[in-house]
Amino acid sequence: MKNMKIRITADGPYIVTGGIPLSEKIIKSAGNCYVYDDGVELPQAETYSLCRCGKSKNAPFCDGSHRAAGFDGEETASPALYTERAELIRGQALDMLDDGRCAFARFCHRDKGDAWELIKHSDIPHNREEAITAASECPAGRLTAVTKAGALIEPAYEPAIEILQDPERGAICGISVKGNIPIESAAGVLYEKRNRAVLCRCGKSENKPFCDASHID
Ligand code: SF4
Ligand code: FES
Repeated sequence: MKNMKIRITADGPYIVTGGIPLSEKIIKSAGNCYVYDDGVELPQAETYSLCRCGKSKNAPFCDGSHRAAGFDGEETASPALYTERAELIRGQALDMLDDGRCAFARFCHRDKGDAWELIKHSDIPHNREEAITAASECPAGRLTAVTKAGALIEPAYEPAIEILQDPERGAICGISVKGNIPIESAAGVLYEKRNRAVLCRCGKSENKPFCDASHID
């Protein structure tokens, strides 16, 4: 995708360029795990603007409501690299990085426990596989399984943007950004390119532009 980018505007929307596919995903529990259902079909375009103030009446798109709402979109997220920010959690056969940047999407929970417990007991083959799934399916990229040789295990994603909905919590969720799409701050500085990230779209995050699960409140 040529010129693929998400550009943050000062106190305004995300401008998406490069014809990045857009879809809606509904978070749903399935036993002790979580899965996605497809949501409504969203229009596809070369360029579109996504609301980040939470006030649009045409969500997920911006309708200009941020101006009347006096939205303060100041970006406060640390510019440090993921591997610098994240804590390394050691397990028996695998380790895991955790930077605490959680969107409360809950994909870190599996039948046999959560990602932290599974990593701890990753000498058991089933736990090892489940730990990789639990860490890799974290849409925020908070969790990443790491081999004992130090290689980060990432799922293969094509560039895509997914609008997350969380009806079981009676909330919207953030904007899942997959596949290393460049994200540029309002000041014109690129954030670290990541395979997985969730952007705030309720306007309440204290770690803008990233989701910090404030939508749950
Ligand atoms: S963002 Fe990651 S760590 Fe947070 S609840 Fe979702 S899957 Fe778990
Ligand atoms: S950012 Fe424009 S309406 Fe929300």
